[in-house]
Amino acid sequence: MSLKENIDSVRSDFLADIESFPNDAQDIENLRVKYLGRKGLVAGLFSSMGNLSAEERPQAGQLLNALKNDLSEQFQKKMDENNSGAQTQDPYFDATLPGIAPALGSMHPLERTLQEIKDIFISIGFHVEYGPEIDDDYHNFSALNFPEHHPARDMQDTFFVAPDTVLRTHTSNVQIHLMENEDPPIRHIVPGRVYRNEAISFKSYCLFHQVEGIYVDKNVSFGELKGVLEYFVRQMFGPKVKMRFRPSFFPFTEPSAEVDIWSTERNQWLEILGCGMVDPAVFDNVGYDSSIWHGYAFGMGVERIAMLKYKIDDIRHFYQGDVRFLRQFK
Ligand code: DAH
Repeated sequence: MSLKENIDSVRSDFLADIESFPNDAQDIENLRVKYLGRKGLVAGLFSSMGNLSAEERPQAGQLLNALKNDLSEQFQKKMDENNSGAQTQDPYFDATLPGIAPALGSMHPLERTLQEIKDIFISIGFHVEYGPEIDDDYHNFSALNFPEHHPARDMQDTFFVAPDTVLRTHTSNVQIHLMENEDPPIRHIVPGRVYRNEAISFKSYCLFHQVEGIYVDKNVSFGELKGVLEYFVRQMFGPKVKMRFRPSFFPFTEPSAEVDIWSTERNQWLEILGCGMVDPAVFDNVGYDSSIWHGYAFGMGVERIAMLKYKIDDIRHFYQGDVRFLRQFK
């Protein structure tokens, strides 16, 4: 048989085979391999070109390429028909129905609250900084002026990783790192996770989030601290929210205060943050001259703020990954 006859015979066999195009994926693949595979009939014809004379070869090549393209095209066409056929064969298929929208996730309410807090402070000139979650006793306690036998240092309240190493109990440890690394003036906020060895309940969890703030400059006053925190609270909760400063105590601030927000749901004041003027003893520990530099600091609970703002009644919701809870924050 001449090459031309061979080509015609392969073509007509192929046409007969794809006339009854198989449904089964393996049969379809077998069909493809038989004609178009690396060792298929078409490839076989290409290798038989070696027997032709140099004059015959170009024309034979053209014929074979045409055959190959033709078969590939027809095969693909059958595949396409077959795929769409699967749908049109369904008598109930309605191509005009709207599609099913893929389920979209939502931002976690804590991340969202954190973002809002950051935006407010960035808008008034604070920089966002981060610090270690595992730290030594010195940065978490001693440098912040906690006395040796302060109850917060107790194993009952603090997770110890090693005798001198703790999971930080607050973001205040980063105040020390920042001041050790940078000369004043500074103006930072520090978001992050903190850990406490507490009984888990609707209002306390073994880990939660805080945002620390620290501002050090010449002539910083308590009045400025009050002004900044009042601005923050109004931006966060709206202009009508009721808030109060209440005198308090922290080892690393003097004087110290806490800020409460009135919860109309619970009909009570809820504490959202602690604050105060940086204690000169802390400046001494980081090598800032406390006769020149003054500062204020604050630390707020992100879960507390999110719970108040979004009326969430149990802190454990933040950590359970229940989509029925999370979906409400689209
Ligand atoms: N670290 C305190 C806590 O976890 C909160 C706090 C109070 C931070 C006063 C401060 C501050 O920076 O000045 O309860």
